[in-house]
Amino acid sequence: MSRVYNFSAGPAVLPEEVLKEVADEMMDYNGTGMSVMEMSHRSAAFQEIIDTAEKDLRELMNIPDNYKVLFLQGGASQQFAMIPMNLMKNRVADYIVTGQWAKKAYQEAQKYGKANKIASSEDKTFSYIPDCSDLPISPDADYVYICENNTIYGTKFKKLPNTKGKTLVADVSSCFLSEPVDVSKYGIIYGGVQKNIGPAGMVIAIVREDLITEDVLPGTPTMLTYKTHADAGSLYNTPNAYCIYVCGKVFKWLKKMGGLEVMKQRNEEKAKILYDYLDSSKLFKGTVVPEDRSLMNVPFVTGDKEMDAKFVKEATEAGLVNLKGHRTVGGMRASIYNAMPKAGVEALVAFMKKFEEENA
Ligand SMILES: Cc1ncc(COP(=O)(O)O)c(C=O)c1O
Repeated sequence: MSRVYNFSAGPAVLPEEVLKEVADEMMDYNGTGMSVMEMSHRSAAFQEIIDTAEKDLRELMNIPDNYKVLFLQGGASQQFAMIPMNLMKNRVADYIVTGQWAKKAYQEAQKYGKANKIASSEDKTFSYIPDCSDLPISPDADYVYICENNTIYGTKFKKLPNTKGKTLVADVSSCFLSEPVDVSKYGIIYGGVQKNIGPAGMVIAIVREDLITEDVLPGTPTMLTYKTHADAGSLYNTPNAYCIYVCGKVFKWLKKMGGLEVMKQRNEEKAKILYDYLDSSKLFKGTVVPEDRSLMNVPFVTGDKEMDAKFVKEATEAGLVNLKGHRTVGGMRASIYNAMPKAGVEALVAFMKKFEEENA
């Protein structure tokens, strides 16, 4: 078996311990004589899997009782529509546009009502987070929307925006469970799990109960109504059962590691290794203003497209894979999610140093 260091932005690296466990249980999950893949979502064995996953996630994130945890399909992108369909009672919402994913959510919301772009960092290729301490929040806004960690550009909100009392909705796809959060500050906190938690194909939406109502926009499909899934414990229809199972294993792994405070320390330590090198390098340069740097996604460039391509190629040959930047921005990006070991970041920096010497 030969494993690489996988710096993919998602689907992404998972803890080896978890992969081994699910491999061990592939043919016979816990004495059932079948794989979780083959199991009815209405079985007692699966009910225990989903209940335990929810319980562990609640514990990890300290989720208050007045929030529902929903395991949904359709990717994070489906939430771009589901959020306005369920929340836009006044048909007004404010969006802070800090990257492609926030922009897509903003554009989708325009289909359902008046979506206002109240701040943006597009003027500088989304390389920073705008000051959100005193934004022109619309008096009748149903919610204020952010993408908390910008996967493509590598920026992160270090401080939540001042929403002036309006409900905050956040896409945390690429920083999910990377550090502690105060769930009570959000109306909805959601993310696709394929970056920091599990396999692709599922979104976890943590939704404050008062936002879960039948009063949704006319024409909202049953499947896109939060209440449908909340009332059915995420089992209205067949969920992505295998994904829920793997995510549950990751929650157990995170608890064993010491929880989100420990993950935060580990992630800070890992990111520092890479950022410190980028700040000292004469060849490579980080693209984000230091104060808004993400701990999860680290974009960098040499300033020369051919050199970038040479780096990506040689890194791949050295077992450091998926370092190519997003197709819309180029350069490089190292995604160093929870499951990326410190040794992986050290190996990357050692390789970068060697490459810099060879290409000085
Ligand atoms: C922050 C963020 N939001 C949304 C998405 C879209 O997710 P999905 O492919 O699950 O729709 C992604 C990435 O793929 C992302 O990084």
